Amino acid sequence: MSRTRIAAAATAVASAMILNSPAFAQSGEVNVYTYRETKLVQPLIDAFTKDTGIKVNIVSASSGLEQRIKAEGANSPADVLLTVDVGRIAEAVDAGVTQPIKSDALDKIVPAQYRDPDGHWAGISMRARVIYASKDRVKQDAITYEELADPKWKGKICIRSGQHIYNNALFAAYVAHHGEAKAEEWLRGVKANLAQKPSGGDRETARDVAAGKCDIGIGNTYYWALMMNHDADKKPWAEATKVILPTFAGGGTHVNLSGVLLAKNAPNRANGVKLIEWLAGEKAQQMYADANYEYPVRAGVAIHPTIAGYGKLNADTLPISKIAANRKTASTLVDKVGFDN
Ligand SMILES: [Fe+2]
Repeated sequence: MSRTRIAAAATAVASAMILNSPAFAQSGEVNVYTYRETKLVQPLIDAFTKDTGIKVNIVSASSGLEQRIKAEGANSPADVLLTVDVGRIAEAVDAGVTQPIKSDALDKIVPAQYRDPDGHWAGISMRARVIYASKDRVKQDAITYEELADPKWKGKICIRSGQHIYNNALFAAYVAHHGEAKAEEWLRGVKANLAQKPSGGDRETARDVAAGKCDIGIGNTYYWALMMNHDADKKPWAEATKVILPTFAGGGTHVNLSGVLLAKNAPNRANGVKLIEWLAGEKAQQMYADANYEYPVRAGVAIHPTIAGYGKLNADTLPISKIAANRKTASTLVDKVGFDN
């Protein structure tokens, strides 16, 4: 072998060693901890890897991810946490396992009301908490959240537990709008209108409306679309109901977020930010809209026709951080008025 060829071979070996060293491998990876179902996350991740060449490792769980990150401490491999609902988002921040995301690109895409003022989380897609109303028995096509306490609905409302995170956020929004005393009065009124003890999930609420147990139920926008388009045995529940987008008096429709957070000790921080920015990009936003029936947080992305069929969403402008700040009060009020009893 000539001298130059030996030198070239040595360089090649050295390059291979660098490529295989943990430091380099790390720069081509990102570790995602997710509460969101793999079924939704995997196609997004595959598309991200295809676009960027960055390998994604997923840790999926239905609970305990903050505790896990905390226990892993400074050596936690977690870079990005994907979760749903302002309640879980706030819990992650409260657990002290996050850091500010710091991305001008993200700040430009995600409206300020859907971002943490301190930068620890950002909404990536939205869902609204709406009314599933009996097509046969409910004539009106508009309603306010305040009206749910009107005695005209006595014995006609179905809803899941008042302590469930979806209702907790709605009730916290009510507190943010009207104050604690008015919220308590309202909750007592809604409670007095319930057809049955709060139970089941949003799909069962639609089921009970369809069965005539109640005239209106409270549920999230995507469940109705899932029942209508993906679940043959639950399709009749969607078909018996219509979705009404309620509004706060003088406000808009209550929305909640699926969000992203950057882990405090993210070993692949730059790639984590890259993934977060990619999730706010056009391709990912279209996937959230098409596959999961969520409202894209990015302007100009088409929403799914089923969701569009509910009518134009006039999202409440209350900053999500204000909802997070009232979660505890809402939970206390639910117990105080015996909402779930
Ligand atoms: Fe859900």
